[in-house]
Amino acid sequence: MDTSIRLLLVLCLLHAARAVDQSNFKTCDQSSFCRRLRATKPEERSYELNLSNLQISDNAVEIELLNKIDDVSLKFVLTALADNTFRVFVDEIKPLYPRYQVEGSLNGEPQVARLELLDRNNEEIVVKSGENKVIIKAAPFKIEFYSGAKLSAVLNGRGLFTFEHLRNKKPSGDGETDLGDQAPQESEDPGMWSENFKSHHDRKPRGPEAIGFDFTFPEAHRAYGLPEHADRMALRTTTSGGSNPYRLYNLDVFEYELDVTMAIYGAVPVLYAHSPSHTVGVFWNNAAEMWVDITNSKDGNVVSSLVSLVSGQKQEMHVDAHFMSESGVVDLFVFLGPTMQKAVQQYTKLTGSAPIPQYFSLAYHQSRWNYNDEDDVRTVVEKFDEHNFPLDVMWLDIEYTDGKKYFTWDPIKFKHPETMQLNLTATGRKLVVIIDPHIKREGGYFLHEESLSNDYYVKNKDKNVYEGWCWPGSSSYLDFFDPKVREYYSGLYALDKFVGTTKDVYIWNDMNEPSVFNGPEVTMPKDCLHYGDWEHRHVHNVYGLYHTVGTFEGLLKRSGNKLRPFVLTRAHFAGSQRYTAVWTGDNAAEWSHLAYSIPMCLSEALGGISFCGADVGGFFKNPDEELLQRWYQTGAWLPFYRAHAHIDTKRREPYLYNSDVQNRIRNALRQRYAHLPVWYTLFHEHEETGEPVIRPLVYHYPSDLNVFDIDNQLLVGSSIMVRPVTESRASSVSVYFPGGPNEIWYDVEDFKPFRGTGSINIPVSMDKVPVYYRGGSIIPRKDRPRRASTLTHDDPFTLYVALDDNKSAKGTLYIDDNESYDYKNNLYIYIKFTYKDGVLSSSLIDDARFSTSAWIERVVIINPPSGIKHATLKSKKLGTTKLQTTYDGENRSLTIRKPGVSVMDPFTITLQ
Ligand SMILES: *[C@@H]1O[C@H](CO)[C@@H](O)[C@H](O)[C@H]1NC(C)=O
Ligand SMILES: *[C@@H]1O[C@H](CO)[C@@H](O)[C@H](O)[C@H]1NC(C)=O
Ligand SMILES: *[C@@H]1O[C@H](CO)[C@@H](O)[C@H](O)[C@H]1NC(C)=O
Ligand SMILES: *[C@@H]1O[C@H](CO)[C@@H](O)[C@H](O)[C@H]1NC(C)=O
Ligand SMILES: *[C@@H]1O[C@H](CO)[C@@H](O)[C@H](O)[C@H]1NC(C)=O
Repeated sequence: MDTSIRLLLVLCLLHAARAVDQSNFKTCDQSSFCRRLRATKPEERSYELNLSNLQISDNAVEIELLNKIDDVSLKFVLTALADNTFRVFVDEIKPLYPRYQVEGSLNGEPQVARLELLDRNNEEIVVKSGENKVIIKAAPFKIEFYSGAKLSAVLNGRGLFTFEHLRNKKPSGDGETDLGDQAPQESEDPGMWSENFKSHHDRKPRGPEAIGFDFTFPEAHRAYGLPEHADRMALRTTTSGGSNPYRLYNLDVFEYELDVTMAIYGAVPVLYAHSPSHTVGVFWNNAAEMWVDITNSKDGNVVSSLVSLVSGQKQEMHVDAHFMSESGVVDLFVFLGPTMQKAVQQYTKLTGSAPIPQYFSLAYHQSRWNYNDEDDVRTVVEKFDEHNFPLDVMWLDIEYTDGKKYFTWDPIKFKHPETMQLNLTATGRKLVVIIDPHIKREGGYFLHEESLSNDYYVKNKDKNVYEGWCWPGSSSYLDFFDPKVREYYSGLYALDKFVGTTKDVYIWNDMNEPSVFNGPEVTMPKDCLHYGDWEHRHVHNVYGLYHTVGTFEGLLKRSGNKLRPFVLTRAHFAGSQRYTAVWTGDNAAEWSHLAYSIPMCLSEALGGISFCGADVGGFFKNPDEELLQRWYQTGAWLPFYRAHAHIDTKRREPYLYNSDVQNRIRNALRQRYAHLPVWYTLFHEHEETGEPVIRPLVYHYPSDLNVFDIDNQLLVGSSIMVRPVTESRASSVSVYFPGGPNEIWYDVEDFKPFRGTGSINIPVSMDKVPVYYRGGSIIPRKDRPRRASTLTHDDPFTLYVALDDNKSAKGTLYIDDNESYDYKNNLYIYIKFTYKDGVLSSSLIDDARFSTSAWIERVVIINPPSGIKHATLKSKKLGTTKLQTTYDGENRSLTIRKPGVSVMDPFTITLQ
């Protein structure tokens, strides 16, 4: 270890004593553009649409937008898109330089819809698309979005719209020529033309170019979205109490704090405003640093109470949002729902859903910084087997490399990486290794030398290769915005290039905000230069996205486009879900961090990124036994399930604990494995429909005011509800049962029914996690315990049929080869199960076919009709057979044994 790294580690250890040092990161006040936009005074703005300069086509209307104060012409375009969506675009007509437009976030060109002109006069024009209407008002410039007859969203209702046109700096008269470092002119913010933060100077060669606008959401009770923040799911009011706006700027925040609006690793600029009657979503496709102020009238801020005093009436609920970005253009999407379910799907279709992951990646992952060597890896796996803990994936953090040179192996500790992998795959396991974007600047390192000679690195403001400090010491950073670099980078994953890897190695991309230990706010200076002459400021929030595009393509190419890649990333943006899973980064072994893993992943799921998890056990610090067990129980119900730990923590593999603790962790893992068919089916449905895999209660119960703030409870699909225990020494937890008196929820352990009529205190022991099946659903499970999910593929299914008040239920099951793209050629089966009038039947939903030996070994009817004596199976292949049934009075369930029918063979089971 070289001395510089040692020094860094010492610094880190010193840091470890307390939480995040907030002074390393900017407040709005320390950021010139945020400061000046937050202080926008509507009376100092004058934007007007020139309605006599208007062009209308079948899908769009384009109008000149005048900044009358500065006499600058902008172009305003409103386009109607499919699925109740509108796009609003504003750019300068003749900018001094082009302004950055994000491409990588969208899943291809959005599909347009027909736009009709309804009315036009001197003050406004009215257009319509489907059931929706938009009123475009000229002066002051204001856009009203109507969903049906309901006014759902108003753009620039408060007059905060600001579009700083690119400009040349006026000579200041003192003979100074360096435009970048002049004293500000009168009335200008001091940081407009260059700014300092701590010891860092940002030269801002293009000067001010910020954009801000406000949205008002009439009737909205809550706003959700804007991941990633270590905060509750419902967005808080940020305009009072000295709070900062929510910040979106991908940053490596050491020991992040909870309940704050600070930026962390990911940025997804989508927000949903929700009222009991409708939901509207807004997505700003902009990759620069962004801040968003939220004012929720329910929080009774000064302004709205003043308004209600004046009007003498109780003011209508609403949410105001003020979006502020440092650069780029307005490229805004408005999703008119009208339901939350629809608005989330509209956003997810636009940015793309996640392709169904390989089956193994939904199972359990074991990681730590670091498994030290091949022996260590082998021993951990052996111990998992010895103690019957299921495990699918072993992970290696940075220490596996030869001196932090990615795409190499430590020649002593990992001398036989291929044998090590073959040993893993022999027991049905995979390996994931870390690959970060910083490249060690070391002579003789092929990657550094090739990147230098091919000019693949990001440049500093003087157009020389940028050097920053990261794990390897002095490092440079690949410029993933250059298609040539991505092509080169993806080639590095080839099995003959990344020597020592086999097809069973998958990839973890970390530190890709990018993290730069000695950079401003631990990232790259904003005046660094990328491909196409864009400054880092223009593209910062999509650096990680493009990194993972390169990795994804590499894994795809490596398998001849056959196998689905698995990539985990820390930095992310809108659209990242098309390439990677995410996790919540470097959390801590604290109860509060366990609790916040739920809202953090729920927000990501609403932001299109369902494949989310948090480090089980907590990354920093040592969890006690109770916390560790609760973390395994909670993690089992989040989509990405991985234990991970900091290098300074004590070993915490589950087999190191006493048998009580082991039993509980084993049960949590088995619970996860039993439900893998559910997770896999949900990911298939997510890919098809854009519906999130995990959902907050408000997603399915949008008009129930009681669920608007519930984020310690989640739905897995629509059929499973979980209230993880995230409190220390809990003897009971309050569970909210939604859906009204006709909805039934069954405890998964004893099938005890609960009506959907509100909160109930549920006693919990260390063994108990409140998990419920919704009456009306059919849950396919694989209940035979195995060491790895790959060993369960031919195992039979048990169907849990949870009956509703009408004694009926339905469910789905998706099966394919678990790893390839053959499903795109219709090689899968998608099965629908229905129970109605005493008959359970299965049918294949579409024309696709796939051959599997999986069969049905048991059906459990929860809350069955009384007096059942017989069950008769009928299927094409098996004909008619009588089946054995047992009624369990204690569990109110009827078990039908050994139907023995293949899942490919549509059947009916009739109860009499
Ligand atoms: C509005 O547009 C018309 C037509 O292009 C143009 O003649 C007029 O000058 C514009 N008005 C302003 C105030 O720019
Ligand atoms: C692979 O497994 C064999 C048998 O357990 C063991 O002897 C060998 O050391 C393992 N090799 C590696 C590199 O883990
Ligand atoms: C019924 O409940 C008991 C206690 O929870 C459990 O041991 C048993 O396995 C359950 N029976 C069925 C058929 O699920
Ligand atoms: C039961 O059926 C009635 C009539 O079709 C329907 O209105 C009701 O919503 C159903 N109940 C449940 C719980 O699905
Ligand atoms: C994937 O799993 C299904 C059953 O869930 C099984 O039929 C199939 O053979 C598996 N595919 C492979 C390649 O193991």
